[in-house]
Amino acid sequence: MFNNTVTWHSLKSHAEKIRYASIASFLANEQERQEHFCICDNRLTLDATYALADQRTLDLLLQLARDTRLEEMRDKMFSGEAINITENRAVLHTALRAKNPRPKVKKSLEAMCKFTQKIHNEDKIKTIVNIGIGGSDLGPRMVYHALKDTHKKLDVHYVANIDGHDLHSVLQHCKAEETLFIIASKTFTTIETLTNAQTAKNWFVKEAGKDKIAEHFVALSTNFEEAKTFGIAEDHIFPFEDWVGGRFSLWSSIGLSLCLGLGFDIFEELLSGARSMDEHFSNAPLEQNMPVLMGLLGFWYRTFLDMPALACLPYDQRLELLPAWLQQLDMESNGKAVSRDGNTIPYPTGPIIFGQPGTNGQHAFYQHLHQSSTITPCEFIGIETPGHPYKDQHKILLANLKAQAQALMEGKTAPDGQPYRGFSGNRPSLTLILPSLSPYHLGQLLALYEHKVFVQGILWDINSFDQWGVELGKALAKEILRQDK
Ligand code: F6P
Repeated sequence: MFNNTVTWHSLKSHAEKIRYASIASFLANEQERQEHFCICDNRLTLDATYALADQRTLDLLLQLARDTRLEEMRDKMFSGEAINITENRAVLHTALRAKNPRPKVKKSLEAMCKFTQKIHNEDKIKTIVNIGIGGSDLGPRMVYHALKDTHKKLDVHYVANIDGHDLHSVLQHCKAEETLFIIASKTFTTIETLTNAQTAKNWFVKEAGKDKIAEHFVALSTNFEEAKTFGIAEDHIFPFEDWVGGRFSLWSSIGLSLCLGLGFDIFEELLSGARSMDEHFSNAPLEQNMPVLMGLLGFWYRTFLDMPALACLPYDQRLELLPAWLQQLDMESNGKAVSRDGNTIPYPTGPIIFGQPGTNGQHAFYQHLHQSSTITPCEFIGIETPGHPYKDQHKILLANLKAQAQALMEGKTAPDGQPYRGFSGNRPSLTLILPSLSPYHLGQLLALYEHKVFVQGILWDINSFDQWGVELGKALAKEILRQDK
């Protein structure tokens, strides 16, 4: 842990000053503010000028990043060192989108491409049902939802919940002979997925007969043997490696539903956008590094300014599922109070993430954002060019985004100079602007969040890549079921 370093102590005393400073005053020298709090890479822009942080804050945070050897840890991740120390595993989701992929990744991509072409050319399958949960669901589901209006090739349904209503509502609309079931599970032991898969298989046998199972079921898993035991044909098992964490698995064969639903070329574009963010994260100096700046500010708010939550506010209906994806990515990674060497962490770590697309959220929880006694930093996401032709509506949407960031920052003053009705303002936000919601820019955005979470894990001295709390719940549920039998 780094909470006994000189830098940490300096940040602590500096926080007492900044807590009462005004963001507006930091904006006095606009050009200088933009120089240090705005970063653009491959047309993705991060504007953090409304941060509750001044230049000294940033300098101290950057010093802390150096104290924690952030760059060295980042390089260890990219080079495949076993930085997931509790599971003794490398963390190599970035290898899945490398320009020259390693042989196993290349082979996997080729198999996904070939299978996609076959399904599209044969034209027999009209519907895909992806059965998976957590990382085997949230990423592909969110990307499909974001891109389907512009790139849809096939209907994809995502089933996750053990609640039978989830599967039932999908199966009701499926024709067995036109449906392909994808069983997505890294471990192939997750009770929700295996139960849903078994129910789907029973339904399929009833509708189309046993003989067709091999043709209509595929598995995406690191557990080849269990997938085979379930009855999946060997050439329908798309493997990936255990160095791909569940919440980072969208880029692996877990993305097969995207290849089928949107096209392999679209999946490749998504990978290449993510790769460009990997390159930026690896090469840009810390001062000009987007995941670093986002990570540092979030860390500052949570640990030094005691802000417990973070609002993810995409101003694009197509990104409706982004907050849910981010919840797993961030909260499963950094929702921990144990350091890498196993000690209890005495300072606040990972925030509570919530969010909804704008402007819907404005009429739900924004009142809390503006005037609650709890201050929540906000991350706005705006898209310059929409995917629809209604220009006026898009203008209103973006005006709302800007207005909310401004209102949070400025608050409202009464004639006597006091905050009007407790409207104190000074609430920090940042804004990410994408030129369009292309697969490339979406890939950039998702990789940006992945690396931001990594940065924060290093600063907090957390292993961001295990999830023992979730594993405990999974094991207990199995035990309770065993006792109930
Ligand atoms: O939710 C816990 C978890 O272990 C996640 O990390 C993972 O994404 C999810 O379960 C699903 O696991 P699997 O892909 O092995 O079925």
